[in-house]
Amino acid sequence: VTTTVPVDLGDRSYDVVIGHGVLDRLAKMLPATARQAAVVTQANVSCPIDVGGPSDTFVLPDGEQAKTLGAVEELCRGFSRAGLGRGDVVVAVGGGVVTDVAGFAAASYLRGVAVVHVPTTLVGQVDAAIGGKTGVNLPEGKNLVGAFWQPRGVLCDLQTLETLPRREWASGRGEVAKCAFLVPRPGEVAPGNELTQWDLQEQVEWCVRLKAAIVSADEREVGRRMLLNYGHTLAHALEAVGLAGGPVDLRHGEAVAVGLVFSARLAQRLGRIDEDRVREHLSVLGHFGLPTDLPEGLHAAELLEYMARDKKTLHDLTFVLDGPDGVEPLRGVEETDVVATLAAMGAEP
Ligand SMILES: NC(=O)c1ccc[n+]([C@@H]2O[C@H](COP(=O)([O-])OP(=O)(O)OC[C@H]3O[C@@H](n4cnc5c(N)ncnc54)[C@H](O)[C@@H]3O)[C@@H](O)[C@H]2O)c1
Ligand SMILES: [Zn+2]
Repeated sequence: VTTTVPVDLGDRSYDVVIGHGVLDRLAKMLPATARQAAVVTQANVSCPIDVGGPSDTFVLPDGEQAKTLGAVEELCRGFSRAGLGRGDVVVAVGGGVVTDVAGFAAASYLRGVAVVHVPTTLVGQVDAAIGGKTGVNLPEGKNLVGAFWQPRGVLCDLQTLETLPRREWASGRGEVAKCAFLVPRPGEVAPGNELTQWDLQEQVEWCVRLKAAIVSADEREVGRRMLLNYGHTLAHALEAVGLAGGPVDLRHGEAVAVGLVFSARLAQRLGRIDEDRVREHLSVLGHFGLPTDLPEGLHAAELLEYMARDKKTLHDLTFVLDGPDGVEPLRGVEETDVVATLAAMGAEP
């Protein structure tokens, strides 16, 4: 069975197709104007790609360090040498790094050519390939240069995930766990623990529906899209400590898992949810085999400083927290509550 989830954005609307062995649908997703395609991928990604016509393949280096303006320049020069024209198409086949870089190259080349995403990581299928955020890093920080550039279509073939390394599964599952506590529209009920009883396709579908609905309501992240950052404020702080050489070795989704535990405990401390709801968070994360404890040797003050600096916390300490009306952004959280929650999780002062 194949599922199609529409992303509703007026004349920029598109479909996300989800299923096992659906790669043969790729040719049909390309714009009718395309005479040739530029396939952008990575060495580790080994799925067979047939665009149903002439194509050139561009292989990006592996890892986060491939997300540079230099990589975008290389791609655009390659597109130009290959004769890629306005009506042609870029096909991104890979994880979030590939779809972010190829998407930004497509947004910029000839002031914008069509892009179709074929995400081959769980992070890509449930998050990165959907919603139109593209971009690269600068030495000064992650994702500082980019564009909103919606794809023409997204093809999530669950079969491509079979070769995914364990830590990449874990990373994706952290985002899936996050989605268990969110709803597409206000007033709906989040699946929580129930999500862990669904099969992989149903889980991916839930995450895609959720992101599609939230992105349709708030394409440029001025409101509801902030909810997708549930668990991310501490996660970003943990990642920053790790990048600075500190005692953190977590993939993004693993850091999100720890961030979800922190968010649940903070919400409990603020009287927004009860102990049962905290346990439900731990149970979902446990089901996915994700970490739930803070790494050892971290200082609450340092984490607090990184969290206050996170661009998504706005001006005061804003956290996305669970509560009686579901997950929502909460402004003006007191530092003492944050520090006490971190201390209860084992952080030093
Ligand atoms: N644009 C967005 O909205 C958005 C959302 C979330 C994350 N991101 C970005 O996505 C990136 C992370 O993406 P990711 O977690 O997919 O990591 P990634 O793209 O680095 O992929 C992880 C590793 O898996 C390999 N790989 C990919 N597909 C494979 C497959 N089928 N089999 C075996 N190996 C495979 C990759 O080559 C890489 O080595 C970050 O840069 C993040 O900023 C963007
Ligand atoms: Zn994330």
